[in-house]
Amino acid sequence: MRPIRPSRRAVERGMPPRLVAGAVAALLALAAAVALISLQTGSSQADEGHHQAAFGADGDGAGQGDVGPVTDVDREFLVKVRQAGLWEIPAGRLAQTHASSEAVKRAGQHLIDGHAKLDQLVREDARILGVTIPNQATEEQQQWVRDLENARGAEFDRLFANVLRASHGKIFATIGEVRAATRNDLIRRHARQANQTVLDHMEVLEDTGLVEPETLEEVEKAVTR
Ligand SMILES: [Fe+2]
Repeated sequence: MRPIRPSRRAVERGMPPRLVAGAVAALLALAAAVALISLQTGSSQADEGHHQAAFGADGDGAGQGDVGPVTDVDREFLVKVRQAGLWEIPAGRLAQTHASSEAVKRAGQHLIDGHAKLDQLVREDARILGVTIPNQATEEQQQWVRDLENARGAEFDRLFANVLRASHGKIFATIGEVRAATRNDLIRRHARQANQTVLDHMEVLEDTGLVEPETLEEVEKAVTR
């Protein structure tokens, strides 16, 4: 840094040299303090970023005790997210070969992509929180996959849009309940991601134009019990 000398104008204005030197020293001290604060802020942001990256990468950044208690509702939520992926990914794949509607194929692709990411997250969070998650969808979900396997064309499209929209509507309500009450940071993060994914899936399913009013009535009954 170039040494700061009293400005010529200050000298010309007749400020005593000692006063000018004092003002310069004060300015230098202020600049140093600002630089120090800026460095400290940058460093704390970098640490936070590193922590998040490490946590996201291998989950070793925090143990269960650091992120809050896990309730039965939290556990059940992770199980449901895992099971959603276990049947929706096969259903999405079936849409690529059995559907006649391009919108249904597109919805199927969203299911595949969304649950591939969510499944990775749910396996990671379940491991960190010590929650056992299943490797099989429920019997009812497996039956839906079998029904889809046996359908073709317009019949497949209608079945796909309605069965999937109904199940997404129900889990959407569950996510809201979990997110509203959980005391666990990881479950909050998980609910946020699941919420975005489920919302996307409801929208692409609705975009098919095949969701029937009866399907939404069924969801209404289930979520307002
Ligand atoms: Fe989904």
